Amino acid sequence: MNIQNTAPETAHDELHAEIADRFDTTAMATETTLLNPRFYTTDFDELDRIDVSSVREDWDDLLAQMRSDPNKGHFKKTEEWDNIDWDGMEPKLKAELIDFLVSSCTAEFSGCVLYKEMKRRGKNPDICELFSYMSRDEARHAGFINDALREAGVAVNLGFLTKSKKYTYFRPKFIYYATYLSEKIGYARYITIYRHLEANPDKRFHPIFKWFREWCNDEFSHGEAFALLMRTDPKLTQSFVNKLWIRFFLTAVYSTMYVRDHARPAFHEAMGVDIDWYDQEVFRKTSEIARQVFPVELDIDHPRWMPNLKRMERAFRKMEAAEKQTGLARMLGKLTSGAQAGWAFVSLYTIPVKKNTPPESVRLEPAY
Ligand SMILES: [Fe+2]
Ligand SMILES: [Fe+2]
Repeated sequence: MNIQNTAPETAHDELHAEIADRFDTTAMATETTLLNPRFYTTDFDELDRIDVSSVREDWDDLLAQMRSDPNKGHFKKTEEWDNIDWDGMEPKLKAELIDFLVSSCTAEFSGCVLYKEMKRRGKNPDICELFSYMSRDEARHAGFINDALREAGVAVNLGFLTKSKKYTYFRPKFIYYATYLSEKIGYARYITIYRHLEANPDKRFHPIFKWFREWCNDEFSHGEAFALLMRTDPKLTQSFVNKLWIRFFLTAVYSTMYVRDHARPAFHEAMGVDIDWYDQEVFRKTSEIARQVFPVELDIDHPRWMPNLKRMERAFRKMEAAEKQTGLARMLGKLTSGAQAGWAFVSLYTIPVKKNTPPESVRLEPAY
């Protein structure tokens, strides 16, 4: 045995043990909070009854593209993958990078679980084929992130997660709104980071960002699929009540993202990204894309928008601090911060929306 090789490996193992001790990533991923990515379940029979004949031409084009599997060989480490010095990384950055990877892995895997279940339960060949491609992609995405976590010795136990994480039930229409949005936001987030680091390669502190360009095209197509599904039933986007729901989901998804991103200041600083700028940029891209199908658009330049996002973010910090206290202080802290967050949400939700008439043809190509 070569001693020279053994020593650093032992140090490496020790480091891994230390990181694994501090970051129980499976527990992080399993935890259900307002901000963590969730697992969803729905009325699969209703989803299975969708008839895509009204969008057949676009549907067949999209499915042909997914069938050709353009990213088949993409999610593998190549010589482009640089080794990460987890040992030398600043502890706060390390913690936030792991948190980012765990949260992304959970979100990707959440899609995988939902899509796979739909494919398993369905009888409708169009639906089953679509969901099999989408679960294939999300499994790759989650697996690739988990490989990056494994290098730090903290891979998430995905099998355990499937069994032990709480599932949230959403009616199919809410699945369309929420999933459409999270796919398009996923695209906008990945491409915005990719373009920023393309221009500032010295800020690329982890190799996984190099994979984001092709990756985000998968998310873009998944979003396209949900746009087409929504187009099969005009009521989903045109009725008065559903317009209010769409507005609700837009507000909830955008503000959650804002609060979540602000919990990772060191991560964004290391990338050289101002979080407010980044989030607004992601909202702008997502809103532009969502014009393909949503009848309303949030006014993210409204004077009430940013101040209330900030208010919401502060309320969540307070809530977090209250969680750590005991007795009356904890109860009062949670009550007041909950009320503040609720009020900020109402202020955001009631900002007048921009009306939009979606174009005749729904299909888009990734353009950023
Ligand atoms: Fe994905
Ligand atoms: Fe996706």
